[in-house]
Amino acid sequence: MANFSANYGNKITKMRFYSPYERWLTRRALLQALALLGVSTALPLGLGACSPARQLSRAREPEGLRSLLNTRQYFGVAVDARHLADTPYAAAIAKHANILVPENDLKWRVIQPQAGAFNFSAYQKLAAFAQENNQSMRGHTLVWHTGLPKWAEKILLHGGKAEVRSMLHAHLQETLQQTATLVHDWDVVNEAVSPHSRRKDFLRANSPWFKALGPDYITEAFSAVHSLNPTLTLTYNDYSMEYADAAGIRRRSGVLQLLQRLKQQGVPIHQLGLQSHLQCHRPLAGKAFTDFLRTVQQLGIKIIVTELDLNLAKLSGTDSERLNLGAHYAATYLKMIAEVQLLDTIICWGLSTPYSFMTKKDRSTLHPLPLDNNLAPLPLWHAVRSTFIESV
Ligand code: G3I
Repeated sequence: MANFSANYGNKITKMRFYSPYERWLTRRALLQALALLGVSTALPLGLGACSPARQLSRAREPEGLRSLLNTRQYFGVAVDARHLADTPYAAAIAKHANILVPENDLKWRVIQPQAGAFNFSAYQKLAAFAQENNQSMRGHTLVWHTGLPKWAEKILLHGGKAEVRSMLHAHLQETLQQTATLVHDWDVVNEAVSPHSRRKDFLRANSPWFKALGPDYITEAFSAVHSLNPTLTLTYNDYSMEYADAAGIRRRSGVLQLLQRLKQQGVPIHQLGLQSHLQCHRPLAGKAFTDFLRTVQQLGIKIIVTELDLNLAKLSGTDSERLNLGAHYAATYLKMIAEVQLLDTIICWGLSTPYSFMTKKDRSTLHPLPLDNNLAPLPLWHAVRSTFIESV
């Protein structure tokens, strides 16, 4: 413990705190939290070295996260069907997750690469795996400003509203029909808000959907999905609403204005997806974030975590110090959500390091996900485990 505070604690005192939640991130609290997470605090010895207790627990294969969950809790991962060829990885997904989300296999460019030529083969592989392993699925994503095939972009930019609406309806009809058996919750619209927007409502005006149909494209999308299948749970999904900085303030304002407008219009919207790609160097918004979540909850909208991972790139310290700081940051973040509502759904954007979109971009990325390259639990795995255990 002495080593820890001498070599590490000082870094904590340098972190800026913005609210009682950040002050919770004090040296003592961090040590206590790391101990609670079952993580060795002999950090300077590096990730491989552990306290005797940890070595013992390392020797025992950790239980699958899903075995800890009750029937109303979901821990999941984003998966690309091609990843299932990695047998140990597929086994880890089956062991830990009770819900899957296709990372890319339900995006326009994959399922309708050419107009009218649908291809759900990758999704069907994922669906078969999910059924074999008694896992649920959620859909990602029906309307997004990127990930579009060229033919669709062309219609959005040059076709009239009638042609765009016809294209959207055809895509929704086929996609919802093909996935109806397993997918009962969809990210209907993804990332429609931008802190860089010049609009007072911070809507992403450079979205091809916005340019084609105007700001009510979001209303149209949710209403069309609901009319095609009124039994679906409809989610609005976005990121970076958790930070104290100016961008976080603008993003929370934009998302809240959007949700309030949809509710005023009587649009069926049931969930807000917090993507939660946590940039662990950015101070969390604390009360401003929990107030935001409470306002969302008062609209009758449930909050779920849809794409959790950690960006530790701008944290200083040894690898194990950064991993532990990141896990505590995530635990603090998840605790804030759980203070407002029962947090019953946490989905990570992948399960182990090699399959993170961040690692694919930069192989030097430090472990953004719950399992390392050898499928061994990292501090984030313990933080997620503790969140579920504490929120029953
Ligand atoms: O599958 C093709 C492959 O055949 C081709 O050779 C290769 C090179 O062009 O591209 C491959 O497709 C790539 C795909 O990932 C699968 O690896 C696309 O180019 C690439 O753009 C795509 O990136 C995905 C990105 O969304 C854009 O769709 C990432 O994997 C995915 O993790 C990321 O996920 C997003 C969420 O959907 C929304 N929230 C943010 C999150 C992270 O950016």
